[in-house]
Amino acid sequence: MDLGLTGWRVLVTGAGSGIGRAIAQGFVDEGARVVACGRNPDHAVPDGVVGAVHADLTAEGATEGVISTAVGHLGGLDTVIAAAGGAVTGTVESASDETWATGLDLNLLSVMRLLRAAVPHLRERGGRIVVVSALSAREPRANHVVSNVSKAGAAALAKSLSRELAQDAILANCLAPGRIRSAQLDRAYPDDKARAEFAEANIPLQRFGRPDEAVPAALLLGSPRNTYITGQTLGVDGGMAWTI
Ligand SMILES: NC(=O)c1ccc[n+]([C@@H]2O[C@H](COP(=O)([O-])OP(=O)(O)OC[C@H]3O[C@@H](n4cnc5c(N)ncnc54)[C@H](OP(=O)(O)O)[C@@H]3O)[C@@H](O)[C@H]2O)c1
Repeated sequence: MDLGLTGWRVLVTGAGSGIGRAIAQGFVDEGARVVACGRNPDHAVPDGVVGAVHADLTAEGATEGVISTAVGHLGGLDTVIAAAGGAVTGTVESASDETWATGLDLNLLSVMRLLRAAVPHLRERGGRIVVVSALSAREPRANHVVSNVSKAGAAALAKSLSRELAQDAILANCLAPGRIRSAQLDRAYPDDKARAEFAEANIPLQRFGRPDEAVPAALLLGSPRNTYITGQTLGVDGGMAWTI
């Protein structure tokens, strides 16, 4: 299927590693013009990107700077993939105010600021938004209340944008990974045996996913070929979510 991505102008955050990096590479491979946004400049950017920008997205003014750099490189913006983010451990009783502030800032507010700055550019020819939320937004993960709540907020943000921006032909969706092997997942599940036991007990496909397995869904939702799917969350979770 031709996704119509040749020359399509795409910004991907979290593009220095894991799911974001795989998605950025996937868009490049389909002929899109991609700006990769990472935080750590030591992480290699995907091959073939038009430009790269490094920023801590929680820093004041960072998201606006990333959008203007991306627009400078690309001459406009058609798709934003918001993949930067992370799990935050803690319970309601154990998580401090600072942990809440940091987690909400990373997983929700920085995504809102990024998209707020992007929308005027996306209006130009009817853009696509894909927010990488999490399975835990729908099915909360034990001892992860801050990321459960902030990812649910990010999913609600994407849903709200799908309604607000429908009149501008901008489509907004989420991807919800379950357990995809990335830097942060390997830190949380460093042991092969524990990973295998978890997968056997919890994942219908009986294994953790790979970052590249999130790419087809991101390409479809983020491409001009997608003209009628908006306001949806698509699980990339080996069948973990019970949602029907
Ligand atoms: N892997 C899973 O199973 C899973 C499950 C649920 C949700 N997710 C979500 O999927 C997304 C990608 O995560 P991943 O699993 O691929 O993990 P990852 O490889 O650790 O990637 C996380 C990315 O977020 C970036 N990032 C973190 N804090 C940032 C900040 N303050 N400013 C800018 N960038 C920041 C990191 O940039 P640097 O590396 O440059 O620091 C990194 O590229 C995240 O939103 C995560 O919450 C993943």
